[in-house]
Amino acid sequence: MADRNPHLLLVSPSRLSENDICASLFPDARPHLQPDAKRSNKYPQQYQVSSPCMTVFDLSLLGHQAFNTALLSLRGDILVMVIDADFGLEQKDYWIKTLSCLAAIPHIIVAIDNMSHVDYSQERFRALQDKFNDHPVEFDCQSMHFIPVDLRSGDNLHSKSPHFDWHDGEALTPLLSSLASKPAPAARKASPDESLDQFAVYLSWISKSPMLPGRHYNFDNGSQTAQAHISTLKHCFNPETLEHQAAKRLLSGNLGYGNLSLDSSVPFEPFENHRETGSFLLRDTQSGELVAFGIIKHGLRRATNLHWQKLEIDKAARARNNRQNPCVLWFTGLSGSGKSAVASLVEKKLHAQGKHTYVLDGDNVRHGLCRDLGFTDADRVENLRRISETAKLFVEAGLIVLVSFISPFRSERQAARDMFDKDEFVEIFVDTPLEVCEARDPKGLYKKARAGLLKNFTGLDSPYEPPQTPEITLHASTTSSKDLADIVLAELAKNKII
Ligand code: ADX
Repeated sequence: MADRNPHLLLVSPSRLSENDICASLFPDARPHLQPDAKRSNKYPQQYQVSSPCMTVFDLSLLGHQAFNTALLSLRGDILVMVIDADFGLEQKDYWIKTLSCLAAIPHIIVAIDNMSHVDYSQERFRALQDKFNDHPVEFDCQSMHFIPVDLRSGDNLHSKSPHFDWHDGEALTPLLSSLASKPAPAARKASPDESLDQFAVYLSWISKSPMLPGRHYNFDNGSQTAQAHISTLKHCFNPETLEHQAAKRLLSGNLGYGNLSLDSSVPFEPFENHRETGSFLLRDTQSGELVAFGIIKHGLRRATNLHWQKLEIDKAARARNNRQNPCVLWFTGLSGSGKSAVASLVEKKLHAQGKHTYVLDGDNVRHGLCRDLGFTDADRVENLRRISETAKLFVEAGLIVLVSFISPFRSERQAARDMFDKDEFVEIFVDTPLEVCEARDPKGLYKKARAGLLKNFTGLDSPYEPPQTPEITLHASTTSSKDLADIVLAELAKNKII
């Protein structure tokens, strides 16, 4: 066991919650919280017990999402799950089994309760045990113990009960004492000896905002932090059937499997070898909110055999030849706000000055590079990731790149900004009110969206998050595009960007 008290996790069906399992097992249990703290479905009840010396977490009342996170993050050494002999197995029991194996809990005890209701029947006990064992899990289970009990009468809890003379094992608390003093079966390395930046991971998604592949999150594994995104979401688990389901995003309470990509290498161990260095948290880059708990299945060595090829002619050399400072002018705003019109006029003027420019426009890029993408949040995140990477290549090529996309999400605009040097990224907010864009409706799309013919339309049923500190804000409802283009050029000149 780790150099702390063993962690015992308890789960009993909510139907049996009047049988307080912790109180039945440990008369000396001291609640960790204030005694009057309300039992909550968000946080496990925590107790300290002295014989054997353990920290006990009762997860019985937790909602699905809190339960997933607690089971994966509490680093349980022993899990006791209670099954009602009378009622039989529920789908939730298989979910608990799967998650406990995934969480690499060394010892799992299945306590088959309410045996007095089934006449202490050995056949009933064996039938439930077989049914539970027959359900395969895709992760290795460590040691699994089955024990018949009757929590209400205390049968087989502290000493062997004559009702169960057909069962050879110990009573429940003596079994807990012997397991609590055993070293964990898996050899656990203290210090990882490999660093990587890509991993196959399981993610328990907590946030109300869905996980979108490609979106950046802050990764924290306790000793290292990095920027992370899910590069591929392979599947999520159906909580009812445990089947793999294809998924494009993860919602609160989902458990998913996919590839995680970091912007720098971190030392790690797979979770099953070392639960501390093999687990991590993800936080929202904007609000800092905890969005997911994750565990590393294994490292992916894909990027380690790729090296950055240093080219003789670099960005600075190309910039010198072009006699300009390469940069990105990132226009963001609603559809119909006038982004493209202003970007086009700015480009014309720069071109006339002999500057080397290129416009990346949403509608145009979606005809080629991004033709496979639609307008769901996940597709927009991927759209902006591709545009940001393309803009980065064009800036490397020494060009002034004018990007004109709705780019509705702060998080992706920030991720784009982070790819460039400080004076290379200029965010230009084309701030035109929705009513004005809708009244203009140059492509008739607002009308279609209002008629229910276009889904996920920005500003209507898909969000637009206005920039908080753009370098330039343009009020396109009150000023002509030509004047706005002049404002942009004047600002760029004033700040010595161009
Ligand atoms: S972004 O959100 O991913 O940045 P992008 O700028 O590429 O969007 O594309 C927006 C253009 O696609 C709009 O100018 C409009 O012509 C068209 N379009 C089609 N459907 C939608 C939609 N549901 N929401 C917004 N724009 C749409």
